[in-house]
Amino acid sequence: MGKSQSCLEQICDLVRECGQFIKDADRSQMRIDSKGGRANFVTEYDRKAQERLQAGLLELMPDAHFIGEEGTTQAFSPSGKFFIVDPIDGTTNFIKDYRASCISVGLVVDGTAELGVIYNPYLDEMFSAMRGCGAFCNGSRLHVSSEPLENALVIFGTSPYREDLTDRSFNLACAYFKKAVDVRRSGSAALDMCSIAAGRAELFFELSLSPWDYAAGALIVKEAGGLVSDIDGRELAYDRQCSVVARNAVVQTIPLGA
Ligand code: IPD
Ligand code: CA
Ligand code: CA
Repeated sequence: MGKSQSCLEQICDLVRECGQFIKDADRSQMRIDSKGGRANFVTEYDRKAQERLQAGLLELMPDAHFIGEEGTTQAFSPSGKFFIVDPIDGTTNFIKDYRASCISVGLVVDGTAELGVIYNPYLDEMFSAMRGCGAFCNGSRLHVSSEPLENALVIFGTSPYREDLTDRSFNLACAYFKKAVDVRRSGSAALDMCSIAAGRAELFFELSLSPWDYAAGALIVKEAGGLVSDIDGRELAYDRQCSVVARNAVVQTIPLGA
């Protein structure tokens, strides 16, 4: 077994461990804090998962830096190794026990995504990818679909923390709805990208996401043969928020404002 394969497996074990305590969380006693703004919450489990992930990942790779959604002291830089981590993607779903949340761990080395792991503890689905080696779910290789827009399921994220984007998000979703089979909104951008990679849907867009939402998912989509960019077709950034479009290689995109 190669060194990177064994590193991937150790990351999967760590992420699975955190998934278990998220699944077993005692929701009746749970502490929930607002992070300010609209519908932006953090629970004690987001913090606990991040602490465990930070300790475990840095033990595995002591020369790496750690950027996590729930507080981080390190800023991204285009050189060096960075774990970019969302301890619970889909916190509102988690609070509601809606059962569509995951853990997302990306590793970016010298500005390039090298590894991505996303775990859905409710379905026990472990999505993973290493650059150049393909994308997998529970060991089975993933491929994006080859369906055009007229046969597509389009997933969109509402950018709930950015009220200024609401009308544009829903107008674009409406434009897709009129051309595709239907639209979906799951509440977890990382799982949405896994759905594209697995060929369960054809296109995902969200007008504002943070690097921890997409660092792992973007690599998983690309390694499954899909395309990922921002809404203007540019590479995704790791040092700031940006829009994300992830899709199969044939589906037609609709420009903002069309
Ligand atoms: C959110 C989820 C959601 C997306 C938001 C994200 P969080 O992440 O991915 O689907 O619409 O933009 O911020 O806050 O649950 O980790
Ligand atoms: Ca997130
Ligand atoms: Ca989160």
